[in-house]
Amino acid sequence: MIELDGVSHTYRIGEQRTSAIREVDFRVDQGEIVSIVGPSGSGKSTLLNVMGCLLTPDSGAVRIMGKDMSRLSDAAKAEIRRLHIGFIFQSFNLIPVLNAFENIEYPLIIGGAAAGERKRRVGAILERVGLAQHQHKRPDQLSGGQKQRVAIARALITNPGFVLADEPTANLDSHTATEILALMSELNRELKTALIFSTHDPKVSAFAHKQVRIEDGTLVA
Ligand SMILES: Nc1ncnc2c1ncn2[C@@H]1O[C@H](COP(=O)(O)OP(=O)(O)O)[C@@H](O)[C@H]1O
Ligand SMILES: [Mg+2]
Repeated sequence: MIELDGVSHTYRIGEQRTSAIREVDFRVDQGEIVSIVGPSGSGKSTLLNVMGCLLTPDSGAVRIMGKDMSRLSDAAKAEIRRLHIGFIFQSFNLIPVLNAFENIEYPLIIGGAAAGERKRRVGAILERVGLAQHQHKRPDQLSGGQKQRVAIARALITNPGFVLADEPTANLDSHTATEILALMSELNRELKTALIFSTHDPKVSAFAHKQVRIEDGTLVA
């Protein structure tokens, strides 16, 4: 599970301070789908980045699988991230010079999987997300929905316990957005991967088992 206990974070740029999240208590269990809903600037990305150990909060505790992240070195945190967490972003963040197959394969190369195993696993997930015929295309040859399918496959290829998705449907039309969320929730059921996503769209928020609302950096009931 991922647990946040009284977590706060303030950005400092020169003299300017922005209190982005304040005293956040939050918990996601294995297999859950949780949506974080709130207007632009309310702290959704900060919260997800803290949960995924991409950002170290000023105060409070972040525990992943029971381990207190503040006690770990950067290398140890990177290892926890690699083993347990997948990320999906609003702007897809695919590597432009790699094709769909290679983008999905990349985390397996980092993790040291052998070539035969990589080929088998990437082939299976390409099939599952409906992109087998497009595997040789680069991101600029794919539609927005297809790019997000590549990103979903890349996030899931290592079998993480948790996938964090920051406004994964914000750059998609509403029909494609619904398709993408439906695919993510099917994969959640099949693989038991917990999914935490942020959105400001009430339609996609309906896919969640649990919804939390954030306003001005604070979770509201
Ligand atoms: N890297 C940053 N440096 C300074 N301020 C930031 C940074 N990222 C976000 N903020 C500020 O923190 C607040 C929360 O932002 P964010 O977490 O991105 O909200 P959301 O994802 O809900 O739009 C906003 O006021 C935003 O301007
Ligand atoms: Mg954001």
